[in-house]
Amino acid sequence: VIVGIAVYYLFSLLLFIEDEDHLKKIAAYKVVEYVESGMVLGLGPGSTAKHVVDRIGELLRQGKLKDIDGIPTSKKTHEQALSLGIPLSDLNSHPVVDLAIDGADEVDPYLNLVKGRGGSLLREKMVEGACKKFVVIVDESKLVNYTGGSGLAMPVKVIQFCWKFTASRLQNLFQESGCVAKLRTLGEKAEPYVTDNGNYIIDLYFKQSIGDLKAASDSILQIAGVVEHGMFIDMATTVIVAGELGLNVKNK
Ligand code: 5RP
Repeated sequence: VIVGIAVYYLFSLLLFIEDEDHLKKIAAYKVVEYVESGMVLGLGPGSTAKHVVDRIGELLRQGKLKDIDGIPTSKKTHEQALSLGIPLSDLNSHPVVDLAIDGADEVDPYLNLVKGRGGSLLREKMVEGACKKFVVIVDESKLVNYTGGSGLAMPVKVIQFCWKFTASRLQNLFQESGCVAKLRTLGEKAEPYVTDNGNYIIDLYFKQSIGDLKAASDSILQIAGVVEHGMFIDMATTVIVAGELGLNVKNK
């Protein structure tokens, strides 16, 4: 009986993962409709945006898209795009990006986002902050009533030097929201997770809402040692949400 129950739960989990990935793929295929030949594109990382990059590669191979310049926002996306033959560029050559497409970890009703649980947020913020249109694709599990209070991590990138000091300053900043600051680690040895730019990530966990996001952002950025945080306030122009009942497109 126990083996039977275990097999049932494993099977359900596999179906759930498969289903979630299917929703991400549907959103990814929809968002590619926003891409036109000749565009400079910001290409995000994450499991949802990965499908977008795959699809753009496919359309280029089929000749349905031409003259694309992609600006990847992580080393992994850079490698993926290169392997698909997507021409790559950067913000030095293209300070204005036509369209950026990316996933998110949380989306609130005002289309504010939390990003960075996958490890990238700095390059994303640079590229997505330089674009005319920023389209975010998520499955419906990412929708929250308010960001910075869902109980899940709010990532902050910090320089490695005296990171414990920076982490305690971050925790103290949000004492009233019951903040706990934790260094992100990897593997059994719990080695610090090192980002593409050689920084550490401090994940902030709040017991209750941090209130005004803009004020929270300003206070975080004032701490010396902080590089950037994962709140993307007022940046997304469109969010495409894939759910069981289909796609829901939310515009700013
Ligand atoms: C990477 C990110 C990702 O966009 C975010 O984690 C969403 O990823 P996924 O599409 O895999 O859920 O911010 O740091």
